[in-house]
Amino acid sequence: MRLGLIGYGNIATTLLGLLERTGLHPAHLSVLARPGNAPAVRARLAADAAALTRSATVVEDAAGLLRTAPDLVVECASHSAVAAHLPAILRAGVDVVQVSVGAMSDAALEADLRAAATEGGARIVLPAGAVGGIDLLAALAPAGGLEVIYRGSKPPRAWAGTPAEAVLDLDGLTERRVFFQGSAREAARDYPKNANVAATLALAGAGFEVTRVELIADPSAPGNVHSYEVRSPVANYRMEIENLPSAGNAKTSVSTVYSVLREVRNRMEVVAI
Ligand SMILES: NC(=O)c1ccc[n+]([C@@H]2O[C@H](COP(=O)([O-])OP(=O)(O)OC[C@H]3O[C@@H](n4cnc5c(N)ncnc54)[C@H](O)[C@@H]3O)[C@@H](O)[C@H]2O)c1
Repeated sequence: MRLGLIGYGNIATTLLGLLERTGLHPAHLSVLARPGNAPAVRARLAADAAALTRSATVVEDAAGLLRTAPDLVVECASHSAVAAHLPAILRAGVDVVQVSVGAMSDAALEADLRAAATEGGARIVLPAGAVGGIDLLAALAPAGGLEVIYRGSKPPRAWAGTPAEAVLDLDGLTERRVFFQGSAREAARDYPKNANVAATLALAGAGFEVTRVELIADPSAPGNVHSYEVRSPVANYRMEIENLPSAGNAKTSVSTVYSVLREVRNRMEVVAI
């Protein structure tokens, strides 16, 4: 497989290590880096991917990435990278694993991406990311009548730099506090850096308006805890996932990278599961 990556941060570099460990060697690897970052990324990639593939390229835009003829592109960069690069890649007929799922909370961008994929005959694959059970939620969705509530809980300091600071004394908090209740659309608008899980649940299940979100600061939280409950006429279930932060970016759970690896493996191996 000829693999393309957009972004060369924590998820991308961890993914390359996991591909090597699982014996999955892309025939070619191309990385789309921010303009200006290409020389630094090229130097890092030469070292990081030496044992993974003999053929690696760094490019600075979607046209450059398309010239490397990728079979699959993994976007692991940012909301702005989704908007800047994915429409052209999808329109060219290349499937994309979009890790920045929260970008889909922007309804106009979601419509653009869907139109580009339809036009190009390409698929947008949204990985489960930091949560699990997405298979069951997506399976239940067509039955209708879904009620989904997601609770995202983190230690107080992990909410620094968000609107939570205006309603909570993060350093003085001694007990669990729910500081946001609203729809997945409102949560993504107010807490865009925490939008990925709510967006994934919304897209798999009941949609952005109906999916409920609670955000919680909890001094006793062991890390980032994602829990959600699903009620439907067909089945009810609840999930709770305690994630470890990844070494390269504490905001990204390491299980997210494994979920991206799963999407790539499912396209490289003969059995997909
Ligand atoms: N789906 C999920 O559950 C989930 C979980 C964690 C992270 N994410 C998302 O995955 C993305 C990457 O996470 P990470 O931990 O690797 O972050 P990171 O900050 O470690 O790496 C991102 C890299 O992408 C690069 N980048 C950003 N915008 C770019 C652009 N327009 N063009 C080219 N490169 C660009 C940055 O320079 C950086 O090197 C983020 O958008 C994050 O929100 C999703």
